[in-house]
Amino acid sequence: MNPKQAAAEHGADLVKSGMVLGLGSGSTSALMVQAVGRKLREGTLRDVIGVPSSSGIAAVARESGVPLATLEDHPTLDLNLDGADEVDPNLDLVKGLGGALLWEKIVATASRRVVILVDETKLVPRLGAKAPLPVEVVPFGWKSHLAFVESLGGKPTLRTEINGRPFVTDEGNYILHCRFEGGIANPVELEARLLGRAGIVGTGLFLGVADRVIVGRADGVEVLTRTG
Ligand code: A5P
Repeated sequence: MNPKQAAAEHGADLVKSGMVLGLGSGSTSALMVQAVGRKLREGTLRDVIGVPSSSGIAAVARESGVPLATLEDHPTLDLNLDGADEVDPNLDLVKGLGGALLWEKIVATASRRVVILVDETKLVPRLGAKAPLPVEVVPFGWKSHLAFVESLGGKPTLRTEINGRPFVTDEGNYILHCRFEGGIANPVELEARLLGRAGIVGTGLFLGVADRVIVGRADGVEVLTRTG
């Protein structure tokens, strides 16, 4: 089994009948949702409801036969299963290269337990080492944030579609991809500075959010659990 699939299947195995699940976004989450759908069809799982973190994963859930609800219907979720772009040794994350960071963070925050499904390529010594940090901004005045991000040591670029138009999130916002040379030295401080600025509505830093990370490897999965 390929490592992503192994992590996704392990995630689906954590789901119990009757659970209200947070459905993450991205390709690993899609594999997990398909596995949950398969278990519902086979009858090994019953009465599972998913709250999607993007229009993309909602479409996968519909195709897979996983019933959907909203956070208005279920403000507290039993378990959130999601992917990540980077995982550091503290199990802090960078997420959002799929563009769903704001809704993903809302769904994760509403969940009693958060389990992240990745392959080993996502493990990094320091956040920002490989991936740019996605920062979600309202369209009004977006360019005014560029110099601010630079003052924090980042190099921001607007995420665009192939046709050059800005990528627009499910919430109707833009995304700045911010590169930090050598990685992010102080993620907690960076998060506070970014979120303190009017117009910035979310970052891909998920700090202290993951309870567990399932790492898919060629020979199986490794389970990492947050300590403290
Ligand atoms: C979506 O916005 C992201 O946070 C994804 O969870 C992340 O990009 C991981 O995606 P893959 O599972 O496709 O690697």
